[in-house]
Amino acid sequence: MVPRLLALASFFSASLALRNGLALTPPMGWNSWNYFSCGVNEDIVLRAAKSMISYNLTRLGYEYVLVDDCWQADTRDPKTGAPVEDKGRFPNGMKDLVDKVHAMGLKFGIYSSAGTYTCAGRFGSLGYEEIDAKTYAGWGVDYLKYDNCYNEGRAGTPMISYERYNNMSMALNATGRPMVYSMCNWGEDGPWNFAIEIANSYRISGDIYPNYNDFDIRCPCTDVLDCKLAGFHCSVMRILDFSAPIGQKSGSGHWNDLDMLEIGNDDMTLYEQLTHFSMWALVKSPLILGNDVTSMTPQTLTIITNDALIAINQDGNGPITRRWKKPVKDGEIQLWSGGTANNSIIFTVLNTSPTTQTVYLDFADVFYDQGRYYARQNFKLFDLWMKDETDNWGAPAGQAQFNLTLEVATHSIRVFRATPAPLESAGSAKRESEKHL
Ligand code: GLA
Repeated sequence: MVPRLLALASFFSASLALRNGLALTPPMGWNSWNYFSCGVNEDIVLRAAKSMISYNLTRLGYEYVLVDDCWQADTRDPKTGAPVEDKGRFPNGMKDLVDKVHAMGLKFGIYSSAGTYTCAGRFGSLGYEEIDAKTYAGWGVDYLKYDNCYNEGRAGTPMISYERYNNMSMALNATGRPMVYSMCNWGEDGPWNFAIEIANSYRISGDIYPNYNDFDIRCPCTDVLDCKLAGFHCSVMRILDFSAPIGQKSGSGHWNDLDMLEIGNDDMTLYEQLTHFSMWALVKSPLILGNDVTSMTPQTLTIITNDALIAINQDGNGPITRRWKKPVKDGEIQLWSGGTANNSIIFTVLNTSPTTQTVYLDFADVFYDQGRYYARQNFKLFDLWMKDETDNWGAPAGQAQFNLTLEVATHSIRVFRATPAPLESAGSAKRESEKHL
């Protein structure tokens, strides 16, 4: 009965979200902000697009080329009120750039704010929703990131925020051009509750920075459900924490957006970046690269091209969710799990502490959400970073289930796909996974 109810619930939330029929899986692409900030220009965008192709990122699904803040001229067109691009940065105009990106087989996205100004102080779209949406459609835009700065106090309750963001949603739909609508109101008023029907994704927190788990007071929220001031300098593990209780609200056509990726932007170790990419993929955040994709180390490339993780991110299912978080000395360990569209189970263990942790996993813990049926199964485990089958895990008829023992390195993660395997092979399995990251 329970699985049937869950299926119905996801059917309703999916069908409600499909007003524009887009982002049935989390959008993937590249955005200019995290690396280039306000320094974006035509050349940077075209070189990024070309690199996405030459590095084969497009084949993996990275398809949107997104121009963030600072593309605008000082003022709108004084006669029509239409938005105008900064000709110094975009000498051939935005339409020409969009055409060139399309000619490469990619999609194009642009940025504005549901306020008087954007966060970098360019003109915003509040009160100009229709003309802006029409102009974007005329340029051939496929995606709008819509920010929250200078909103004139039009926030504070879900209904007020809904109305302000719905104005752009309706304006986009009225153009007849399909455009992904990516809300960026930093979780204010709980967009996962009020924006499911109007937006394809919604940022859940203040801005990310390339940091694993520092607490910076400029990202002041301690809990996403009671956050009045989103801020910036939000570390990877803090944003992941914010996402934990609201995974249930994310699904096809309406995704929780944990912010753009910081893979390749320095300051994080290999293991920290593996954690960042794994968790963004598994909680079904949009996978928007935020590094300089024209110049990447083999390490960066290996992380962002993990096809097994991308396949799960893109399988249409909702996020995996957190089962528990337990304190250890100077940190914590966490267990997350969930199901894939083809009936495998994903589980992952994180260690935020400064020492390697030995973690004992209880079978029932990992498979709790999958119900009793799974308790009678044996599984083959596939390590999504080591890319090998490491173990069997299960309970042959009449035998007790055993725990799985894992070593998880400092600031690292283990990610496994568990696939049902014949019961006969259980029990002969190694109990401990010996391959460590
Ligand atoms: C806000 C957003 C960022 C970025 C900047 C641009 O801070 O949250 O992602 O778009 O504005 O000014």
